[in-house]
Order: sequence, then C-alpha cells, then structure tokens
Amino acid sequence: MKPTKTVYVGMSADFLHHGHLNILKTAAELGEVTVGLLTDEAIASYKRLPFLTWEERKAVVENIKGVSKVIPQSTLDYRPNLIALKPDYVVHGSDWRTGPQEKVRQQVIETISAWGGQVVEPEYTAGISSTKIINALKEVGTTAEIRLRRLKRLLKAKGVVRVMEAHNGLSGLLVENVFVENDGKKREFDAMWLSSLTDSTAKGRPDIEFVDRTSRMQTMNEILEVTTKPIIFDGDTGGPPEHFTFFVKTLERLGVSAVIIEDKTGLKRNSLFGTEVEQTLDSIEDFCYKISQGKKAQVTDDFMIVARIEALIAGKGIEEAIKRAKAYIEAGADGIMIHSRHKDGKEIREFCDEFKKLEHQVPLICVPTSYNHFTEDELQAMGFNIVIYANHLLRAAYPAMKQTAETILQNSRSLEVDKQCLSISEILRLIPGT
Ligand code: SPV
Ligand code: MG
Repeated sequence: MKPTKTVYVGMSADFLHHGHLNILKTAAELGEVTVGLLTDEAIASYKRLPFLTWEERKAVVENIKGVSKVIPQSTLDYRPNLIALKPDYVVHGSDWRTGPQEKVRQQVIETISAWGGQVVEPEYTAGISSTKIINALKEVGTTAEIRLRRLKRLLKAKGVVRVMEAHNGLSGLLVENVFVENDGKKREFDAMWLSSLTDSTAKGRPDIEFVDRTSRMQTMNEILEVTTKPIIFDGDTGGPPEHFTFFVKTLERLGVSAVIIEDKTGLKRNSLFGTEVEQTLDSIEDFCYKISQGKKAQVTDDFMIVARIEALIAGKGIEEAIKRAKAYIEAGADGIMIHSRHKDGKEIREFCDEFKKLEHQVPLICVPTSYNHFTEDELQAMGFNIVIYANHLLRAAYPAMKQTAETILQNSRSLEVDKQCLSISEILRLIPGT
C-alpha cells in the first residue's frame, strides 16, 4: 500500500461557506489534510480582525469531514509551515492566480517544488461575496460581551490599534464602515473614541464635564445601536471614586472595552489649553485609590481602566509623568495614556524612552493631535500600542457646514452648494432602512 499523501490548506475560516467546503473536499480526496488556520495576527495584518477567535475558528474547522489536523499559520506567508511539514499538495482556490495573492502563490509553488510538491487549484466558487457576508453580519450586530473583548484581542493581534472619535450615530457609522485599500491590504479604524470634547462640542456645550453621564450615555447608545467596533470611553476625571465604581459597571454592561480617566481635579478644562488655564493635578495617592476602586468594581476580566497622565500638559515634566505612570500601574491600571500638546513631539518621545525602562509594562496610548507629523508606524516604534485620532471628524465637519451656510447666505439659494453636498439619492441610501 502506498503511504498516505499529505495535503496543506491555508485558510482564515471566519465565515465558512460551500466554497471552503469544496476546497476541503478536494484536499481530502488527495490525502491527509492539515489546515493552517491563519492566526488573528496574520489576518489583522491585511484586513479586519476576524469575528471569531482562533480557538473558535479551530473548533469549527477541526470538525469538518476530511480535516485531520488544524495548526496555526501565524503569517500570511505559507513558507514556514510548508518547510516544516513538506506536504505533497497545497490546495487553494483558483482565485489566487491573479491579484494581491499572486506573489504568495508563486512562493508556495517554488517552495514545495523542492520536494516534488504540487499546487492543486479547484475552480473558485463564484457568486459568494465576503463583503456581502460581512455586511449581513454587521446588520445582525454584536453583543456587549463580544464587543468588550475585542479591544484586548486587537491589542494582541496588531502592532498598533487605530482609533477614531465618534460623537453621534452618523460619525459612528462612518468609523465602522470607512476603509481604503492598498496592495490588497484593507486599512480601517479598529475602534472608536468617545471623546468628551467632541461629544460636548456637538451639543454646543463646553468640555468641562458639564455634559453629564446621562447625556453621554445617550450619545453612546446612539453609537452602540449602529456599530460593532470596540469603544474606548473618555471618562474625564472619572468623578469621585464612589461614582467611578458605579460607572465602571455601567460601561461594562454596555460592552465598552476601556475607560480612560485623567489625573486632574477641580473644574476639568480641556488638555489642549495646556498651562493657558488652571489645570490642577490630582495627588498620586488619590488617583491611585480611584484606579484601584475601579478595578475592584469591574465584573469581567477584559474591561480595561486606563490612567491618563496630565503631568506634561500641566508643565510638570517627564520625571513627574514617569513617577505617576509607575504608581498608576502598581495601582492596577491596565494601560497608560500620556498626553502632550507640544508640536515637535520631543517630550512625548522622551517619555516613551523612560517608560520602556519601567519594570511592569502595560499598553501605552497617545492622542497625537499636536504632534501630528508622526505616522502610526513611527508612533509604534516609539512604543505606543494605541493611537487615538481624538477630534478629527467633528473638526472636519464644522468648516464644511460653515462654508455651506455662508455660500447659501451669499447667493440667496442653495444651487452653488449642491456639488459639495451628499446628493439626495445618496443620503436616502446612506442609512439602511430609509
Ligand atoms: C477628548 O477628546 O475629549 C480628549 C482628548 O480628552 S483632548 O481633547 O486632547 O484632551
Ligand atoms: Mg476629553
């Protein structure tokens, strides 16, 4: 009897359909099938993090008829697994002959030809659009628990998590759906920032913790209703510890992944004023107490309480900022956000260099509104794990609205602004169900 041939199939398997089953059936007819299941890291390197975790996807795939083994494929590159396994066949749908996967295919063919391996390419199953499946899933929505867990998954899977502010349902929808494509890689925002500045400003109110929790929750609900991406909530000072503990539970119940609270007391003023207004720092002791009370209050393991350090904003220097980072981590903070309004970015770079030396490391978060010349790659190299674009959608919307209003006033009609507006047919199609 001839020894059994070995077959390798690489797949993501987030949504399985008959196209996948067709490939696995072909593979099983050729020999013993090992599925190289792409890890979250491998998938997130070129598109959205999968809906299901690796373990969940594995549980599905290993129970499909004809699959003998499921192993991780931790890069888009097949070669490390192929060299380790030396399969007789690699089976992949014919769609990879053209487009962004062409190079991967070439590498696979070259690699396995070294031991006489062959590529088998069943005809791609036409008529399935993964975009349509994703959109259908988005329409189904998510649950609080799945959404909450997603930020920690992203932190594990991605070099840097990209976050955009949302201040109402419409901007939430935009952050949920907007993407660009380059070299077959899809780039989108990973999560949403519920900014106190943009939430307050959109309501025509000052950013001084005047827009109260009930109102902020109302904005949050609008956004939760129409999105599935994880949420980082701007908790301002967090209020007194006795209030913060209740608030942590509320946020968790709603499926928020993280709250960021800042170490200030008294009337909170926006950080971007810097020392132009009075910014009173909380004492390290009191802020640590607030963090630890919050940590005690939380119900799930996945919710994150992030301590935001305002020492640089208040002009107190790097040493003070690092002292606070160390204390807040010891008090239980799951992440540190360091804020700075210096344009050149020197101060923030210096902080990062010192932060790296701390014994206990937690995810580091920045809001590069002022030092906006750094790219995400550069920020990642400095040590940041999360980058928050904190106010840009609202700042972009206001000048566009103002200009439109002025042009209508100038012309006593709206003809002149029509070309810069969403067409009526577009606005009618923008929101599903209109
Ligand atoms: C916000 O977006 O509300 C923030 C960031 O807290 S900042 O406005 O830069 O202080
Ligand atoms: Mg704020």
